[in-house]
Amino acid sequence: MAIKFGRPIENPRATRQAASLDLVVRPRRNRRNAWVRRMVRENTLTTDDLIWPLFVVDGSRLRVPVPSMPGVERLSIDEAVRAAEHAARLDIPCIALFPYTDPSLRDEDGSEATNPDNLICRTVRAIKKEVPDIGILCDVALDPYTSHGHDGLLRGEEIVNDETVAVLVEQALVQARAGCDIIAPSDMMDGRVGAIRAALDDDGRSEVVIMAYAAKFASAFYGPFRDAVGSSKTLMGDKRTYQMDPANTDEALREVELDIEEGADMVMVKPGMPYLDVLWRVKDAFALPTFAYQVSGEYAMIMAAANNGWLDGERAMMESLIAFKRAGADGVLSYFALRVAEKLKAAG
Ligand code: PBG
Repeated sequence: MAIKFGRPIENPRATRQAASLDLVVRPRRNRRNAWVRRMVRENTLTTDDLIWPLFVVDGSRLRVPVPSMPGVERLSIDEAVRAAEHAARLDIPCIALFPYTDPSLRDEDGSEATNPDNLICRTVRAIKKEVPDIGILCDVALDPYTSHGHDGLLRGEEIVNDETVAVLVEQALVQARAGCDIIAPSDMMDGRVGAIRAALDDDGRSEVVIMAYAAKFASAFYGPFRDAVGSSKTLMGDKRTYQMDPANTDEALREVELDIEEGADMVMVKPGMPYLDVLWRVKDAFALPTFAYQVSGEYAMIMAAANNGWLDGERAMMESLIAFKRAGADGVLSYFALRVAEKLKAAG
């Protein structure tokens, strides 16, 4: 007779000893104590899995709290350098930089994005000088620079594609020339990865990596990020004509495939936790280095609940990160990165 998983086997003894189920298979044996749980653990989280996003602001000795992201601050360049040092000491391999652009520098066309001396380029140069051994990722999109808060150029009611790509190429070039290691286009315009790859190569920068925000959804979970970069009040309308419909996954595979054909070295799925199914399918289909972005709203939810005493914040943080590993992520962009790295280091 076949053994049914977890079910009593027909055995006359079972009826005599009602207190015992007489199970052959007891999955709980592998969970009895910490050492055996460690033996059978299928996935692990290490600091190598972490990318830490930082927000920068002009000025010096500034740490400006972002109210909708408790524990996250906008840092002036000197403070960002110190944060990068701290991250490097903890063996975090890479940081991601996002600017809070002064409102006076924002305009219709986001022209500050292509200024070789903009806040991001100055930050990259300062960090590269002081902390040469940490990777730097820069976002490519116009939203921190436009007066309307969109990632591309607004012409009438429309975010125009090809004209925007030309500007994004310039933005990627100034960032790469400043020393950025990974260019991460997050704008979701068609054809931008190929155009950026060609321009970087023409500029003698074939070593610069492209991590495409390949499957990026039009999500409500970006709200606190827009507070941090100062675009939430100014954003006109929504981003549904370029970011993906949260209902779709086949489309995500097509987007990822296109970005790979255009030259992406790494791909990303964003947001993270509500899209683990997409992450799994992408990793399974393409086997490329695949990253997840645990976005600002996911961070804010955990922090808000933790600060209210509604859940154990530390455990929720660690559980959320192992979930990304289980779903196939090679790494995670997370605002928890520093805290997680500290915890992992303390645990030895
Ligand atoms: C810029 C960009 C956004 C995020 C990363 N890059 C916001 C958006 O697309 O509106 C969101 C990150 C987060 O929420 O933590 N295009």
